[in-house]
Amino acid sequence: MFDNTILHRTNEPWILITGGLGFIGSHTTLEVLKAGQNVVIVDDLSNSFPDVFQRIMSVAEAHFAKIGGICPKAVVHHVSYQHTPSMRLLLETYRSMDFIHGKQRSNITGVIHFASFKAVEESIRQPLRYYRHNLNGLVDFLDLLEEYNVKNFVFSSSAAVYGNLADKSDFLREEQVSHEEELIREGIDSTNTRFHLGSTGITNPYGRTKYFGEAILSDLARSDPGWNIICLRYFNPVGCDASGMLGEDPKGVPSNLLPVVVKVLTGEWKELQVFGNDWDTPDGSPIRDFIHVSDLARGHIAALDAAQHGDFAGGFRTINLGTGSGHSVLEVVAAMEAASGRKVPIKISRRRAGDVGSSVAATDRAARELGWKPTETLLDACTDLWNYLQIREA
Ligand code: UD1
Repeated sequence: MFDNTILHRTNEPWILITGGLGFIGSHTTLEVLKAGQNVVIVDDLSNSFPDVFQRIMSVAEAHFAKIGGICPKAVVHHVSYQHTPSMRLLLETYRSMDFIHGKQRSNITGVIHFASFKAVEESIRQPLRYYRHNLNGLVDFLDLLEEYNVKNFVFSSSAAVYGNLADKSDFLREEQVSHEEELIREGIDSTNTRFHLGSTGITNPYGRTKYFGEAILSDLARSDPGWNIICLRYFNPVGCDASGMLGEDPKGVPSNLLPVVVKVLTGEWKELQVFGNDWDTPDGSPIRDFIHVSDLARGHIAALDAAQHGDFAGGFRTINLGTGSGHSVLEVVAAMEAASGRKVPIKISRRRAGDVGSSVAATDRAARELGWKPTETLLDACTDLWNYLQIREA
C-alpha cells in the first residue's frame, strides 16, 4: 500500500523502522521522532493495530508543542518487510539524488529491524515458521538493503541467545555468545580469558533465530566494510510510555509475563500461572532483568547514532540492553499490586518449556560504548503500565 510516495522525493534523511507499530517498535519510533529524525514505518499489522500510528504522532506532537520545535515527519506502510516487491518500491522512493563512490545514496540513513516473531513456546511448536519469518525474511531484506546502499542497521536481538548460560552466570556478558574469538582481560591479575565462537546454551528455536540472525549479520559486516551493524540483545522489556497512550497489546493469547498480568488485573483471566517455584532463586520463581521499554527504546537512539558514525571496528557489535538488576516473577507481581492497589491472584504451575532460572545483563559494554544507561525502575514501569490501563478503560 503506497500512498503519498512522491512526497518523499527530497534529500531529507529518514530512519526505516520495521515492526514500528509493535510494543518495542512503537516506543522506539516515538523516541526516534523525539530525537528529531523522520521515520518510515513498515508494519504488516500481524501483531499490532493501525491506530498505534496516530497515538505515536499525538504523543510526539505534544512533546514538541511542550518543548518548542517542529515534530519530524513519519509515514507508515502496511506491508510485510518480507514482501520484496513492496520493499523494493519503498527503497526506490527514498533514493537520493546524490552519489557516493559512484553509487546512488539512499535518504534512508539507518534501519531498525524489529519485525519478527517472538514467542518462545510457539517457536518450539512451529520452528519452520520462525526460521522462515525471522531468517529467510532477514536475508532477503539485507540483500535489498545492500542493493540500495542502506547499510546502517540495528538488529533486535535477545537475551534468548544466552539460553541456559544464564543459569551458570551472575551477569551475562556479550563475549559469552560471540561471532569471533575474543580475548578478554579478567580477574585481579588481568589474566586473559578466551571466548570462543558460538553459543552452547540456546534452549529454543526463537533464540536460535536471533543467534543465527546475529551470525548472518556478523558475516555480512566482515564481507563488506560499508556495513555498520549493531545487534541489541534485549532482556525483558516492560512498562510503557508515561503518557499512557502506547502499550503492549499483543494479538492472540499473550505469553509474556506483563501482558498476562494485565489480563488478570482487568478480570479477563482468573489468575496468573507462575511457571515454577522450584528454581534456584531466593523465592523459587524465575529471575529476569526487567527493563522499562522507554529506556530500551532510548538505547536504540544511542545505537543508531553509533551505527551512523561507524563507531565499531569491523562494523559489527553485540550489546546487551538490560538494567543489570534481576527481579523474580513474584517480585513483579508484588510491584504490579503496589502500582495498581489490586490483588493479582497466582497459581504455581510446572516450569515452562524453554525457560531458564535466571537471566541478568552485564551492562558495562552498553554504558561504555553507547554512553547509554537505563533510568527507570521496575515500579516506574508498573506505574506507567497501570496508568495506560486506566486510560484504556476510561
Ligand atoms: C524470553 C527471552 C527474552 C525474549 C522474550 C521474547 C530468555 C531468558 N528471555 O523472555 O530475551 O525477548 O522471550 O518473548 O530467553 N511467566 C510466568 N507466567 C506467565 C508468563 C511468564 O510465570 O504467564 C514467567 C516465565 O516463566 C519467565 C518470566 O515470567 O520466567 C518472563 O517470561 P516472559 O515474559 O515470557 O519472557 P522470557 O521468557 O523471560
